[in-house]
Amino acid sequence: MIDFRLSTFTLIAAVGVTLGACAPETTSSPKDVSAVDVIIPSERFFTADQFTYANYQEVVVKHAALDLDVNFDRKVLDGAVTLRFERLKPGARTLILDTKDLLIKAVALETEDGWVPTRYTLTEADTVLGSAMNVDIGTDATQLRIIYETSPKAEGLQWLTPAQTAGKEKPYLFSQAQALYARTMLPIQDTPAVRLTYEASLRVPDGLLPLMSASQDGQDADGNWTFSMPQPIPSYLIAIAVGDIKFKAINDTIGVYAEQYILDASAEEFAETPQMEMANTELYGPYRWGRYDLIVLPPSFPYGGMENPRLSFMTPTLIAGDKSLTNVVAHELAHSWSGNLVTNSNWRDAWLNEGFTSYVENRVMEALYGERRAVMEQVLDLEGMKRAISEAARPELTHLKLPDDMKHPDDAFTLVSYIKGANFLFFLEDRFGRDAFDPFLKSYFNAYAFDSITTEDFLGFMDANLRNKFPDAVTDAEISEWVYGPGLPDTARKPESDAFAEVDAVSASWTRGDIRAAKLPTEKWSTHEWLHFLNGLPNLTQAQYEELDSAFALTGTQNAETAFAWYMQAIKGGYEPAMPALEDFLMTVGRGKFIYRLYGALKDNGQTDMANRIFAKAKAGYHPIAQRRIGDVLAK
Ligand code: BES
Ligand code: ZN
Repeated sequence: MIDFRLSTFTLIAAVGVTLGACAPETTSSPKDVSAVDVIIPSERFFTADQFTYANYQEVVVKHAALDLDVNFDRKVLDGAVTLRFERLKPGARTLILDTKDLLIKAVALETEDGWVPTRYTLTEADTVLGSAMNVDIGTDATQLRIIYETSPKAEGLQWLTPAQTAGKEKPYLFSQAQALYARTMLPIQDTPAVRLTYEASLRVPDGLLPLMSASQDGQDADGNWTFSMPQPIPSYLIAIAVGDIKFKAINDTIGVYAEQYILDASAEEFAETPQMEMANTELYGPYRWGRYDLIVLPPSFPYGGMENPRLSFMTPTLIAGDKSLTNVVAHELAHSWSGNLVTNSNWRDAWLNEGFTSYVENRVMEALYGERRAVMEQVLDLEGMKRAISEAARPELTHLKLPDDMKHPDDAFTLVSYIKGANFLFFLEDRFGRDAFDPFLKSYFNAYAFDSITTEDFLGFMDANLRNKFPDAVTDAEISEWVYGPGLPDTARKPESDAFAEVDAVSASWTRGDIRAAKLPTEKWSTHEWLHFLNGLPNLTQAQYEELDSAFALTGTQNAETAFAWYMQAIKGGYEPAMPALEDFLMTVGRGKFIYRLYGALKDNGQTDMANRIFAKAKAGYHPIAQRRIGDVLAK
């Protein structure tokens, strides 16, 4: 007989009582202009999430309490989750949860007689979605407890051996739940349409520090590490990291976690985070999550950053030593408004998260570093997006409102959502003017705080609060072309960078042979100028590659963005001397943005054997998500 009486039970009962007290603030201060005359349309639009099994229109999970052993020997999270739910449809008797590769051991409902086992079924596993778990929730229960463990191959978890860490002595675990991997960590309604609060009680081996995307509440009398997230979040923001992790404060409410080897450098690299938070708050209203910390993960982390609330997860490839790549911090922090506070309710509307965030990121970069840097970033982004549009498998994947038959939510996270999305907002900003557009966006974040919405909800809110005041600023046809049409509309802003114009002139004079590489005026170039220069290189001779390389030591450069841009060129031109360093890069860096394209370029340039050879060697060190993606790239 399984004992469902876990230590967490008392904790949950207590939380049930106090939830009201820690409900998020949704009102704004009186001096907040956005609070004046804001109309929230009563009509709400619905777009189904095709990547969940959950019956979230009938029953919704409101709170999860995790009680888990982090077992590094078996590479599993082992324990229980207690879910509190509400019936939206009176009489609903089934709760459908998402699961993937979970071992379910027992399920019980809370009744007057205590915890009583209940019936459940698991459907056959789909390779993308996993298995639906249908639980009989009876007629009166409001809480459900599931005893389970994760699989060692859970796609949302990477378990690193001590040898795979910098310190070499202790193991490391980190999660990545977006877009549909929370279901590999716990049985949950794994859709951004559902928001829940959570708490956790974790047991980890001595000497390791666990962190979650929550307030870190310390160790209880029994040695359990406790966490709570009182603001309702979508499941993809549940996150955990465990390792030999140290902390360094940047100020009273912002700090960095990292392995010791990179702690000081990280705190220095990210020293301007407080100013970023101030700029963001100034533009779009209060930061509503308490602390903001960053954790610099091991190099196999497959993203540049992940906006886990209160604790952004960051790649170590940002630690360039010169703060040149901190737009990723601005980006993840900006998600505290766009994405985490106001969330896309389904992945077809991913641009509501990523396009808004890329826009806010650029506004914050401009506020901190000025227009010159912000415009350079706009131009680099536009160049990348145009390539993404030209490479799209079908035109519907270049719409902001994505089609209803995407195969995987990854299809939603191309530069279309990010940069076409941001450019739609640049277009609106230019038409309405910042004086009107900035307070409008602030009022939007306030109106839909802690809510999950669709593109159509945003458009309705804009009609009611902005277009009503400036009816001639934009036409329906223009908006429709941006949102429901392919490619980049002609009405897009055309950013021009003087800095890049100079780079282009220099580049032309070198490729014409007017000047030697070593004499090029590059001393004052920022990483951005280097990226523009490298990305724009025409086909070069081997001698020209050598000349550049010996003048600027590009092969083996420590700035990961510059290295990536150079290796892409080196692959294209068959420049052999860069290949050992490229191999080293692929063996040590797991950031998808770089490695998916490097493997793709090797393949496209007739180096499939080399790509396969390196992948075979590097694979075990890559994150499960990256392993799958590269497998797909090389199989195509
Ligand atoms: N939310 C994304 C990361 C992500 C995307 C995770 C899709 C899972 C699925 C994050 O905010 C992000 O966009 N990171 C970017 C950096 C940004 C500056 C463009 C990245 O990882 O490169
Ligand atoms: Zn993002």
